Amino acid sequence: MQSFPAVDPIPLPAPIWLLKLLHIVTLSLHFVAVEMLLGGLLLAVVLSLFRGSPLSHVTARALAHRLTVVMTYVVNLGVPPLLFAQVLYGRALYTSSVLMGAYWISVIALLTLTYWLLYQFSARVDAGRSAWWVGLSAWVLAGFIARLLSTNMTLMLRPEAWRGMYSASAAGIYLPTGDPTLEPRWLLMMAGGLFIGGLWMVYLAGRSTFTAEEKRFLAGLGGKVAALFGIVYLAAGLWAASVQPQAVKTGLATHSLYRFAGFAGYGWLALVAVAVLFAAIAGFGKMTAAWVGWAGALVALLVEITLVVYRDGVRDLTLLSKGFDVWDRAVVTNWGVVGLFLVLFVVGLGVIGWLISVVARAQKPMEGAAQ
Ligand code: HEM
Repeated sequence: MQSFPAVDPIPLPAPIWLLKLLHIVTLSLHFVAVEMLLGGLLLAVVLSLFRGSPLSHVTARALAHRLTVVMTYVVNLGVPPLLFAQVLYGRALYTSSVLMGAYWISVIALLTLTYWLLYQFSARVDAGRSAWWVGLSAWVLAGFIARLLSTNMTLMLRPEAWRGMYSASAAGIYLPTGDPTLEPRWLLMMAGGLFIGGLWMVYLAGRSTFTAEEKRFLAGLGGKVAALFGIVYLAAGLWAASVQPQAVKTGLATHSLYRFAGFAGYGWLALVAVAVLFAAIAGFGKMTAAWVGWAGALVALLVEITLVVYRDGVRDLTLLSKGFDVWDRAVVTNWGVVGLFLVLFVVGLGVIGWLISVVARAQKPMEGAAQ
């Protein structure tokens, strides 16, 4: 029996390799923002509990202020990979999205509520009021959104589960069960939050808007958190890899193309190990030089790129073992449109970089100063 819906007769308007490349670039950036949100928020919540300590207060406030901006990047950098994923894997992804439709559509409401709570959290921290429960609510919602994304991205790989779900309800009110890859995959992203969140604090320690004492606090705490949760992140990654089906493991080791995704997996392992060591040195040595922060940011970006490439291999090989070949599509490239798109894409990235630099330069007053 044919598991996947029939292929769309309209050919793809750009080469598959290009769509995949754009997907990998934009999803890596989405993951950096997601991890900053998940980890930075939890760290800010914990620090906001220690309102009596000026160092904790300044750090919680600095993170909370930035999280509302980070959220805009989470959303805006989530849209492009969603579009590319739907173009490439629509037959699988639309099906899984509809099967858990009630939850999938609820992401919009959850996202709006999370955003509002982030602003409330930031305002309460600013005013020196109790804020932890507001921030924690936002974090629980963000973690639930992450859970729903992991659920959909794994359900799309399991056509064998679709018919049963549809028979149980055509209204999309059930979530799938029985997938051994879901738990480690979600844990990987949640632990990655504290790993990247810690590196983010090490980066902030290099900023001139903090006093020397605040910088040492940021680097010390951030480095230690990143080192500790980097190890949990590593363990979750190994767990997620170990529960993949045998066909996927073999493909990652031997397939002429997806071997490279396998290599990216080893690259991810090596980079996280290096980052853990680096974070421990920065944390225990309370290193506050700007280059240390930038080095941490670079490693964080590379970690996410290698993860996304590996994850892409896992998806394609899983689907391939079930009869869905992502490369097997009619392509009629419209080079004029592709060229225009690429120009706008590069200009868009440039504008984002410029916006970040404007925001960075605008935060000149010392972070601890009353506003
Ligand atoms: C608080 C907000 C969000 C959080 C915490 C979050 C978290 C995540 C996580 C954890 C994953 C990985 C799932 C997995 O593969 O296991 C993911 C993937 C993804 N997210 Fe987000 N996300 C958020 C918002 C968004 C938004 C608003 C969009 C789009 C409009 C989006 C688009 C995507 C896409 C397209 C993927 C996977 C793409 C693929 O596999 O090809 N996300 N997100």
